[in-house]
Amino acid sequence: MSDELEIVRTVADLRQLLASWRKEGLSIGLVPTMGALHDGHFSLVEQSVQTNARTVTSLFVNPKQFGPSEDLDVYPRDEVADAAALAARGVDLLFAPAVEEMYSDGAVTAVAVPGIGDLLEGGFRPGFFTGVATVVAKLLIQSLPDRAYFGEKDYQQLCVIKRLTKDLDLPVDIVSCPIVREPDGLALSSRNAYLSAEDRQAAPALHQALIGAGYALANGAQVTSSIAAATAELLNVGFTKVDYIAVCDPTSLEQLEIVAGKARLLAAAWLGKTRLIDNIAIDV
Ligand code: PAF
Repeated sequence: MSDELEIVRTVADLRQLLASWRKEGLSIGLVPTMGALHDGHFSLVEQSVQTNARTVTSLFVNPKQFGPSEDLDVYPRDEVADAAALAARGVDLLFAPAVEEMYSDGAVTAVAVPGIGDLLEGGFRPGFFTGVATVVAKLLIQSLPDRAYFGEKDYQQLCVIKRLTKDLDLPVDIVSCPIVREPDGLALSSRNAYLSAEDRQAAPALHQALIGAGYALANGAQVTSSIAAATAELLNVGFTKVDYIAVCDPTSLEQLEIVAGKARLLAAAWLGKTRLIDNIAIDV
């Protein structure tokens, strides 16, 4: 850990600083973010600061991972507060490029992760994982960290990133960090800020529905009936639409019809205009 948080906005400056650290033999951890930082991000930062001699956080609201009707324009942004919070937690460098810096000169190259990137979230948010994979591949190539940290809250994103680093032979250790939850079980997310007071009350039901389905499966219930019960529970407490509740292989995310052993339960559902996602591990 160095004494101060430095902020750089160009790839050239990022590379220069990181090259000097590597020359000194210092290990480097990268925590990619879109800002609007909360305790979920801070848990990634803290893990990186503990493990690596230097920690870099990127702050970039990546337009390529937002669909045309999604919340790019209103996505919460507060760089000053984010930078202060990162400095207090011992982060050494904040990389905060403008869109023109990340995608300069009419950049067209994209990183697609078909298969695992087309399932679940990929089906409901076309292009989302190509946007994520493209920016994460760029960040990893720009910074060449020893380790990069991602939260299990976006479990499918984590699987897609593990796949892309393997497929592209990127020499980085992808570290997954557990979901951080509010005391009532709601998974922390920058988008929770969109919830009305009434929706905020209903929101923890998403986690509860997953726990209920996991419990039913562990007690021998069928996959289809467990999902149907969890869906009904969500609609009953005020969720307006359930995009999916799925029982999946924890690595490939292929949907399972019968669970024997480890599986991941994943869900996405709407409370009014806010779309929430969550997931839990089960071992039956
Ligand atoms: O999880 C996020 O905040 C983003 O998808 C990421 C990994 C920073 C890429 O923009």
